[in-house]
Amino acid sequence: MKNKNSAFASSSELLLDLDALRADTPGCEAVVHFNNAGCGLMARPVLQTMLDHLTLEAAIGGYEASAARAGEVADFYASLAELLGARAGNIAFAASATHAYTKALSAIDFRPGDVILTTRNDFISNQIAFLALRKRHGVRVVHAPDHPDGSGVDVDAMVALMRAHRPRLVAVTHVPTNSGLVQPVAEIGRHCRELDLLYLVDACQSVGQYPIDVEEIGCDLLTATCRKFLRGPRGSGFLYVSDRVLQAGYEPLFIDMHGARWTAPGYYRPVDTAARFEEWEFPYATVLGCAAAVRYALRVGLEPVAQRTPALAGRLREQLAAIPGVRTLDRGPAPAALVTFAIDGWEAEPFKAAMDARSINSALSYREFAQFDFSDKEIEWCLRLSPHYYNTEDEVDAVAGAVAELARSAR
Ligand SMILES: Cc1ncc(COP(=O)(O)O)c(C=O)c1O
Repeated sequence: MKNKNSAFASSSELLLDLDALRADTPGCEAVVHFNNAGCGLMARPVLQTMLDHLTLEAAIGGYEASAARAGEVADFYASLAELLGARAGNIAFAASATHAYTKALSAIDFRPGDVILTTRNDFISNQIAFLALRKRHGVRVVHAPDHPDGSGVDVDAMVALMRAHRPRLVAVTHVPTNSGLVQPVAEIGRHCRELDLLYLVDACQSVGQYPIDVEEIGCDLLTATCRKFLRGPRGSGFLYVSDRVLQAGYEPLFIDMHGARWTAPGYYRPVDTAARFEEWEFPYATVLGCAAAVRYALRVGLEPVAQRTPALAGRLREQLAAIPGVRTLDRGPAPAALVTFAIDGWEAEPFKAAMDARSINSALSYREFAQFDFSDKEIEWCLRLSPHYYNTEDEVDAVAGAVAELARSAR
């Protein structure tokens, strides 16, 4: 039975108490927030945790405040370990997903001619980082082709490239920023494990939207932010580092006094845990806010979230697809809660401004964000709408109604 007093799902019944969850989310009163792929709305406990910590810092001093909250800080690692099926020692805090990603890349001793095997839908900043490695270290960047049926990367073709090139790194973005595509990261991971290839997964848009199990994915490294579907604060992210990678001695290029011990004037030794990928200075209010957000997600339950969130997006996609002048762009058999579409007769900024004027939060994506994907789709820009479990069916219908009205006005 659903507990009426709780905002959270019981394990036996995948239902969420929407009224309670929305009452817990101050932003729901002001906006129709369909920009969770940009940044989710924080829940009250997350906000309160951060405010309390800043108040404590002001009252007793920053170092003293973090010492007083050491147990809660430790829960950042414990909660994420629980979320991902890892150990606390596999988790490093980072200022963003990109920060985590570049730290991870910096740990790999790339040599000229080494291959990075990736996909045509990997995140823009990851692609730029690969090109920067090509410029500085002469690595080769190989993009696996997409499957002709539109289901994402062609895994067989990717495996053939793994065998042909023996890449130094296989890098896959689980859910890209530019569409609702879900890439088969676990299937790719099985092949990486078989062939003993280093595997880095960008789970920025999937963490908090789906249950994620790093063992099932078979990744060595995984990165994400806490601010999107996990509903944590801005300026936060994390890196998962597998035991295999820790034991093999991977360490970031620049390691500091938190990540290593200076054992003698000419020597340092990296710490044993993923903390070797962190730096000494931390935004503790943010770290505590992240821990609160992860605990909140675990209490809501990732299974009910994974049922409801993409289903809300599916309802929206279906309604948008029926509007004359609108073309929905998401591919794949079971798209995530990132709904992207092109609309005739509008330029990007005025269209988003018209949505803003209706208090509907959305995001624009441009061709630059997705050079391969948007070229294939022959678009220069699209609007992205990304609901989350706390949004309602009524909001979905209202958003589709607003797009329909704007599409009519342009005809
Ligand atoms: C798939 C994906 N990866 C990485 C990032 C980068 O995250 P951050 O802005 O925290 O660096 C984003 C942000 O939108 C993303 O969508």
